[in-house]
Amino acid sequence: FYALLCSVAADIISTVEFNSTGELLATGDKGGRVVVFQREQESKNQPHRRGEYNVYSTFQSHEPEFDYLKSLEIEEKINKIRWLPQQNAAYFLLSTNDKTVKLWKISERDKRPEGYNLKDEDGRIRDPTTITALRVPVLRPMDLMVEATPRRVFSNAHTYHINSISVNSDYETFMSTDDLRINLWNLEITNRSFNIVDIKPVNMEELTEVITAAEFHPHQCNTFVYSSSKGSIRLCDMRASALCDNHSKFFEEPEDPSNRSFFSEIISSISDVKFSHSGRYLMTRDYLTVKVWDLNMESKPLETYQVHDYLRSKLCSLYENDCIFDKFECVWNGSDSVIMTGSYNNFFRMFDRNTKRDVTLEASRENSKPRAILKPRKVCVGGKCRKDEISVDSLDFSKKILHTAWHPYENIIAVAATNNLYIFQDKVN
Ligand SMILES: *[C@@H]1O[C@H](CO)[C@@H](O)[C@H](O)[C@H]1NC(C)=O
Ligand SMILES: *[C@@H]1O[C@H](CO)[C@@H](O)[C@H](O)[C@H]1NC(C)=O
Ligand SMILES: *[C@@H]1O[C@H](CO)[C@@H](O)[C@H](O)[C@H]1NC(C)=O
Ligand SMILES: *[C@@H]1O[C@H](CO)[C@@H](O)[C@H](O)[C@H]1NC(C)=O
Ligand SMILES: *[C@@H]1O[C@H](CO)[C@@H](O)[C@H](O)[C@H]1NC(C)=O
Repeated sequence: FYALLCSVAADIISTVEFNSTGELLATGDKGGRVVVFQREQESKNQPHRRGEYNVYSTFQSHEPEFDYLKSLEIEEKINKIRWLPQQNAAYFLLSTNDKTVKLWKISERDKRPEGYNLKDEDGRIRDPTTITALRVPVLRPMDLMVEATPRRVFSNAHTYHINSISVNSDYETFMSTDDLRINLWNLEITNRSFNIVDIKPVNMEELTEVITAAEFHPHQCNTFVYSSSKGSIRLCDMRASALCDNHSKFFEEPEDPSNRSFFSEIISSISDVKFSHSGRYLMTRDYLTVKVWDLNMESKPLETYQVHDYLRSKLCSLYENDCIFDKFECVWNGSDSVIMTGSYNNFFRMFDRNTKRDVTLEASRENSKPRAILKPRKVCVGGKCRKDEISVDSLDFSKKILHTAWHPYENIIAVAATNNLYIFQDKVN
């Protein structure tokens, strides 16, 4: 029973990520900006406002660039954001576009020094003849100011487009992944990275597969996974060798021959892979399904959920309008019992792994008055639709929910519907 908590209009949102306590939420957009939202503290006079997220800091993370060697434009669009654990009063996050990862520091300032000897409060040099006594500058309170400063720039290590970044559980290293390679970085060192996976064939004409996403295990710092455009997942152990081109586990489901078609390979491409919080399971999203894999069973997924099976008959037109190449992400709830992923027509889906119940909800301005409970939506295929149903033929494929995030331990979700961010909260109490 999710209800709207707040919504914000923005540029086209390209990534959403809560920090590890869920008090901060960062979004990245097509224009290279990062917006950080902070959850409002509970206040006695306005108890009903508890939990809304307000803009805390906005900054330009990436600018458009031009690669003169390759005559290529490098878009400023933010592909991924990852928070780092908090170590002092400031917050740190990594943001990446297609080529460059940046480490940002976000810090607060609520005091300013006053009483300089040589300049006045506005910074103008004082007339030396008027200076008659030595003053000791003091810190005075001022309105809270939030500053974002770039601390490190990790560049020149990717020939192809970066699709993922993942912070290791040792909190000293992170990896950045492009179509053919995965690099490992130390957070302190920007002029050197280690190539840990390289699937580039000697002859590019033999290329049959690209890397689509990668993530570190949440607790074992030597383990990571990456997914491919052929629908397989490889688990690698960095202790085995420096270059992990020999996976230690290989997860793949053999294709059902009765379902084979021209589109089989395209729709089996994995667009996102996520470890469960427990580290026991993997979740993958392909075009039509979400699958949950047990790390101890490589031959087939433990669970398969149909996200929008009614599109199976529409693959031809989805190929023609390029939608078949959309990259949907997927997320776990804090206890790994529910999974969420997006669809078209501003619909998103939730699957309860225990009760096997699923629901389709819609993120849209028309349907979500503040505090109103979201009504489950239903798509009907062929024949007559009931009044509250929507026909598969009238779905709007330009409205898609690719990016979502789940609060780490509360039932609060963030849903990016093109250029609107919606935050919904479960209304149990
Ligand atoms: C997340 O943000 C909250 C609120 O500002 C902060 O108290 C908390 O320490 C942050 N957590 C991490 C791990 O950065
Ligand atoms: C990286 O920079 C550090 C400090 O500036 C320098 O000592 C080191 O030699 C550099 N490493 C490489 C591989 O360029
Ligand atoms: C990769 O692993 C397989 C089996 O695990 C082994 O037979 C093969 O020799 C390994 N290759 C390399 C290059 O280590
Ligand atoms: C094959 O297609 C049917 C529906 O047409 C679907 O229910 C089933 O899950 C598909 N099988 C696989 C392995 O994708
Ligand atoms: C995950 O979802 C289930 C079912 O809605 C809920 O009971 C549980 O509290 C959620 N866990 C977290 C940590 O949000």
